[in-house]
Amino acid sequence: MTGKEIRQKFLDFFEQKDHTIVKSSSLVPENDPTLLFTNAGMNQFKDTFLGVEKRNYSRAATCQKVVRAGGKHNDLENVGRTARHHTFFEMLGNFSFGDYFKRGVINYAWEFLTEVLGLDKEKLYISVFHEDDEAFNIWKNEIGISETRISKLGEKENFWSMGDTGPCGPCSEIHIDQGPEIGCGRSCCDPECDCDRFLELWNLVFMQYDRDAEGTLHPLPKPSIDTGMGLERIAAVVQNVTSNFDTDLIRPIIEETASIAGIRYKDNEKLDISLRVIADHARATT
Ligand code: SER
Repeated sequence: MTGKEIRQKFLDFFEQKDHTIVKSSSLVPENDPTLLFTNAGMNQFKDTFLGVEKRNYSRAATCQKVVRAGGKHNDLENVGRTARHHTFFEMLGNFSFGDYFKRGVINYAWEFLTEVLGLDKEKLYISVFHEDDEAFNIWKNEIGISETRISKLGEKENFWSMGDTGPCGPCSEIHIDQGPEIGCGRSCCDPECDCDRFLELWNLVFMQYDRDAEGTLHPLPKPSIDTGMGLERIAAVVQNVTSNFDTDLIRPIIEETASIAGIRYKDNEKLDISLRVIADHARATT
């Protein structure tokens, strides 16, 4: 499946589930002085989550162009050095504005990954916020994931905020085990480890609060859903390559750059980092 096909399958899947398909908003957010660049699919819906803006739909799905090169979500220093960080990426997301909540989103995500994309259920691992027994029980009792494959993690991993202020809430992440030959070499089953073995695929955020400038959490008018899955990462998994840079979304740019420079990719690690940085920055700039 090409990256383009995966993007379309995602949007089609959620359209069939009564979601309105909304276009990616500009990379430079309109009317949001708290952000330089759009850093998540939910940015364009911030006021909808807060109840300030009403829309004529309560379910939406997008493929949002995102840049994470500064501020709270900043991947700049990792670009080129890891298999999975970019400044620019496309984020697939589905959103509920006071419509479905935890049960609904968990079922949709599972169906899309295992039935539409056909990922192996036994390779998928889950993390939930340590106080979120509701999400834990849905994964365990309704989806049927063994407890040993569900981790309860703290605020750093499983509580998502857009920035220092604004909509936020506990989240549940779906990870895939890429196998013991990938990553730090430990034979553990540990999605907390930052190596590439357990790759975070999809973040399901249970939007429940608005954080004010003093850090106080105020309940949102209606519990809502915000999810995000990097298109390049899921493309790498579906295309059975271990680096986003080897997907059909990016590798051709690397090959073109190498050809212009008169070198070959995967001959020299230092030059490879540069080729990946150029490919990433070329996409972001474009
Ligand atoms: N807003 C969450 C994230 O960016 C889910 O989309 O990870």
